[in-house]
Amino acid sequence: MENLFINTIGDYTVRKCSKDDLSEVISINFTTLPEHYSDYFFEDLLRSAPESFLVAEKDGHVVGYIMCRVEYGFSNFKRFSLTRKGHVVSLAITEGNRRKGLGDALVRNTIEALKLKGCTEVYLEVRVSNHEAVRLYQRIGFEIITTMEGYYRDNEEAHLMALNIAAAQ
Ligand SMILES: CC(C)(COP(=O)(O)OP(=O)(O)OC[C@H]1O[C@@H](n2cnc3c(N)ncnc32)[C@H](O)[C@@H]1OP(=O)(O)O)[C@@H](O)C(=O)NCCC(=O)NCCS
Repeated sequence: MENLFINTIGDYTVRKCSKDDLSEVISINFTTLPEHYSDYFFEDLLRSAPESFLVAEKDGHVVGYIMCRVEYGFSNFKRFSLTRKGHVVSLAITEGNRRKGLGDALVRNTIEALKLKGCTEVYLEVRVSNHEAVRLYQRIGFEIITTMEGYYRDNEEAHLMALNIAAAQ
């Protein structure tokens, strides 16, 4: 059986997601974020990028997750250059488990996993009103590259934020 363990933070374990975790991940997504996806979407991300699909667990229950896609496309840092990029599709920690460093740990560990997959950059979209998340990403080194008007269904703007992993090495 594959060893999913990555590290511990206090009473929490950070580890790779398994298929059995998906129902809890889907339920956390449903209760914490306005952007929801089909079950197939979660399964597909776990199949295609398992190294960067991580969960935080306490007492046998998932309390947070991060899931990413690995893409090939234009760099956010080097004009007209193509590169392999990690795309953070979704991140959430359940309400009672926030402000304990779990969000930070999930993002940092997923960046390490994406580096090993050959990504030179990581990027994501975040609501401009989501100050907690923007602060978290900025603390880790992400920059706001641009702001996209009407990005979300309710018309809110999104910041496109990116981290140049190659430069950070
Ligand atoms: C954004 C989100 C993922 C952050 O997760 P988190 O686990 O609370 O993040 P962290 O604990 O790493 O950091 C949050 C804050 O707690 C602080 N913190 C971390 N460990 C701490 C500790 N042991 N004691 C006290 N504070 C602590 C951090 O310094 C940070 O403070 P700041 O916001 O003033 O800069 C979480 O709020 C969330 O799930 N929100 C809803 C979903 C969402 O918005 N997802 C992002 C979509 S892009």
